Amino acid sequence: MRRHFGEEEAVLYKPLGLVLGKDGPTGEMIGEHRSIQSTLEKVGASLKSGRTNPHDLRPMLDSLDRLVRGHMDKEERVLFWLATTRGAVLT
Ligand SMILES: [Fe+2]
Repeated sequence: MRRHFGEEEAVLYKPLGLVLGKDGPTGEMIGEHRSIQSTLEKVGASLKSGRTNPHDLRPMLDSLDRLVRGHMDKEERVLFWLATTRGAVLT
């Protein structure tokens, strides 16, 4: 996931940010990447501990699901539309 986020930020968010300016939505999207990564790391740490009751993971997994779905929806409805209509150069 970290690799995907890094590549997405380099080829989509960075050029789109140049077109839309520093107050555009790319900063918020990068913040969402960090939230998703942080939640994923908490799930991983919990699993690695070997002491986690599977039922205790549910709130973290539900949160991760909401974060990822919301982020993907925003990318598909807003970011990709902006990238195509504002002429951001994708490298
Ligand atoms: Fe993303």
